[in-house]
Amino acid sequence: MRNLLALNWKMNKTPSEARSWAAELGERYEEGNAELAVMAPFVTISTLAANLPAGVGLGAQDVSAHESGAYTGETSAAMLADVGVQYVVVGHSERRDYHGETDNVVAAKAKLVQANGLLPIVCVGEKLDVREKGQQVAYTLAQLHGSLEGVGSDVVIAYEPVWAIGTGKTATADDAEELAVAIRSALEERYGKKSSEIRVLYGGSVKPDNIASICAKPNINGALVGGASLKVADVLGMNDALKDA
Ligand code: 13P
Repeated sequence: MRNLLALNWKMNKTPSEARSWAAELGERYEEGNAELAVMAPFVTISTLAANLPAGVGLGAQDVSAHESGAYTGETSAAMLADVGVQYVVVGHSERRDYHGETDNVVAAKAKLVQANGLLPIVCVGEKLDVREKGQQVAYTLAQLHGSLEGVGSDVVIAYEPVWAIGTGKTATADDAEELAVAIRSALEERYGKKSSEIRVLYGGSVKPDNIASICAKPNINGALVGGASLKVADVLGMNDALKDA
C-alpha cells in the first residue's frame, strides 16, 4: 500500500504564507512513492487548492458533526467537498482535549465526511499515564471502536500517542507497530477483508530522520506530521525518505 504523508499544519500559516509554501514546494517537489496531502486550516484550503503542485492532496483538520443549518461558526463536510478537499482529520487529541470531543462526536463527524465522498482520518492514541500502566492497547482499541461506531471502511486511522505529540519523544518503531498490529486486527474484525485497504498512520514527533524506520514497519502505511510539516525542507526530507518505502 502506498504510504500517506499527511501534513497537519494545525493552527499555523495564513493564506499568504500557504501560497508561498505551496510555491516553494512546487519548485522542488518530485512525486515519490508516498502520497503527500496537506491538512490545512479552513481559510487556507481554497488557496492551497489553487496553488498546490499536481499530485499533492488536500485535507481539513476538523468538520462539523451536523449536516447544515443553524450552527454558527461551523463548517460542513459538504462545504469541504465543494472546495476540493479529499481528507478530513477527525478526533485529533487536541480536539478531544480542548474541545471536549467524545468518541460519539468523532463517529458522527466521520460518517458525514464519508457521506460526502471524503476520507476521514480518525485519530486515536493514549496519554502518558495510560502507557505507564501498560494499558495502551486496550485504551486505544476502546477509543477506536467508539470512534468507528456506524462508520464505513473507507477510512484512514492515525495512531497518535498523545505523549509523543509535539514533545520530541517519538514512540519507537516497535511501539508504533505494536499498536498498528492491534488496530489492524480490530479493523479486520469490524470490516473483514475490506480492512486490508485501510491505511494505519503513525503520528507524534515524526521528522525526516525517523520517518523511514517507522514507515518500514509492515502495518504502518504513512505518517500524520505536525511540526515537521511547516517547513518545505522538512517535507521534502520526509518525502525523500519515503521514496522507496
Ligand atoms: P508533531 O509531529 O508536532 O508531534 O504533531 C503530531 C500531530 O499531532 C499530528 O497530527
